[in-house]
Amino acid sequence: MSTVLAADGISKSFGGLKAVDSVSFELAKGDIAALIGPNGAGKTTCFNLLGGALAADGGQMRLGPTDITGWPPHRRARAGIGRTFQIAATFRSMTALENAETALMAADAAPENASNLLDDVGIGALADTPVTALAYGDVKRVELAMVLASNPSLLLLDEPTAGMASNERLRIMELVTGLVRARGITVLFTEHDMDTVFGFATRILAMDQGQLIADGTPEAVRADRRVQQIYLGETESGDA
Ligand SMILES: Nc1ncnc2c1ncn2[C@@H]1O[C@H](COP(=O)(O)OP(=O)(O)OP(=O)(O)O)[C@@H](O)[C@H]1O
Ligand SMILES: [Mg+2]
Repeated sequence: MSTVLAADGISKSFGGLKAVDSVSFELAKGDIAALIGPNGAGKTTCFNLLGGALAADGGQMRLGPTDITGWPPHRRARAGIGRTFQIAATFRSMTALENAETALMAADAAPENASNLLDDVGIGALADTPVTALAYGDVKRVELAMVLASNPSLLLLDEPTAGMASNERLRIMELVTGLVRARGITVLFTEHDMDTVFGFATRILAMDQGQLIADGTPEAVRADRRVQQIYLGETESGDA
């Protein structure tokens, strides 16, 4: 198993708050890993450290064999890290096709591939629709097409199904896992809905109060006492 991403003791504080507190893990090629934890656990901050949007206070990150710790986001993107955001990031005044073209050009790829990309995410028929006129699930598909434009080896998806009804949730996750398997991509995603987590993740990382408290197979993490304590009595729709 080859290591795609390694985080070694990464940390980030905001004032006195340790949002990410010495977190270490490795992702192997093909992992579909869920990063779970209650609101404020540090999941998005962790993504911001991995994507380079935030500089870590300490620790190291490697992409394959390469130390990327001090790298800015665009350099990490070029090296193969693609990410989507808790709130979909698209150019709202442009059509789905124009968004895909823009993302391809930003990645120095051929914009002619934009319609293929939209087909890949299941919205080929909506190519000429402005993003403002799309349903939220389809906006997330545009965002996914945009991130795939740079041909990433690792996808960081922050709540890819937030705000969706359960059938749309299922369809988005089937799409993501299908693309991942077809393209040999590794995925780390955050998700509050436990049915989605256990339905799709091959591996689960659990955070609480900035710390990684469990990391293993879905079965092992489901049986973990600290994970059970945190989720006991909690609703599964804790989206902020
Ligand atoms: N830019 C910031 N400045 C100050 N505090 C921050 C900042 N970003 C995050 N925090 C704090 O860091 C902690 C971790 O936040 P983070 O957004 O990483 O949590 P999360 O696990 O993604 O939560 P959610 O499930 O609600 O998305 C929280 O206490 C949050 O208030
Ligand atoms: Mg978050």
